[in-house]
Amino acid sequence: MKKTVAEHAERFSEKAASYDDSKSDEYQACASLVIDHASPGADDVVLDLGAGTGAIALALAEDAERVLARDISEGMMDEGRQKAADRGLETVEFAYGEFRDPGIDADRPVDVVTSNFALHHLADDEKREAIRVMSETGARRIVLGDVAFFEEPDPEAPFYSPEVDDPATVGTLVEAFTDEGFAVTAVERIHDQVAVIVAERVRELPA
Ligand SMILES: C[S@@+](CC[C@H](N)C(=O)[O-])C[C@H]1O[C@@H](n2cnc3c(N)ncnc32)[C@H](O)[C@@H]1O
Repeated sequence: MKKTVAEHAERFSEKAASYDDSKSDEYQACASLVIDHASPGADDVVLDLGAGTGAIALALAEDAERVLARDISEGMMDEGRQKAADRGLETVEFAYGEFRDPGIDADRPVDVVTSNFALHHLADDEKREAIRVMSETGARRIVLGDVAFFEEPDPEAPFYSPEVDDPATVGTLVEAFTDEGFAVTAVERIHDQVAVIVAERVRELPA
């Protein structure tokens, strides 16, 4: 990680109020695909990691039984909480949670994990740990939208700021999902540096 968790939290809280005004077409396409692929059922619990102001969590709140939105930035989550209140959504719950320690009860079942434009803040070994934690929730499906490299990294191209971001290659992420017992069923290329990866569980957690 190029910055500590606390530094990332402070950085995002500072820009939380204007965050929703700064979205690119590629970001919108990525978020839409994450929402579409997540496709929770009415009885499903969704865990959205790096939820920010709730782009994914709020969109899924009407479809799922419950959405657990977790983030490290209280400023970002306050924006999300306000939007949930404005829309009368009572099925989404914002609370502090870090990728590798999302702060959910171990006995609270999770069916679908989502994350959009957030995991790339972690180093590759930390991403692997985060994907293991996602798997350990017992979820049957994980949908990850993020900055990830299909080609050689290009700091001059959009979405990658080397001073704060630490994206993986798409291959590294696919390998991490398969190592945790998932089959990658779709990889959407939104940009040379933006991917959506859909992973479905094929190996159950040990009893
Ligand atoms: C670019 S925003 C994306 C927010 C939201 N998912 C969206 O699609 O708009 C990245 C979010 O990741 C959160 N974040 C960064 N590092 C994190 C970590 N280690 N654990 C959990 N959240 C993290 C930030 O606080 C921020 O809200």
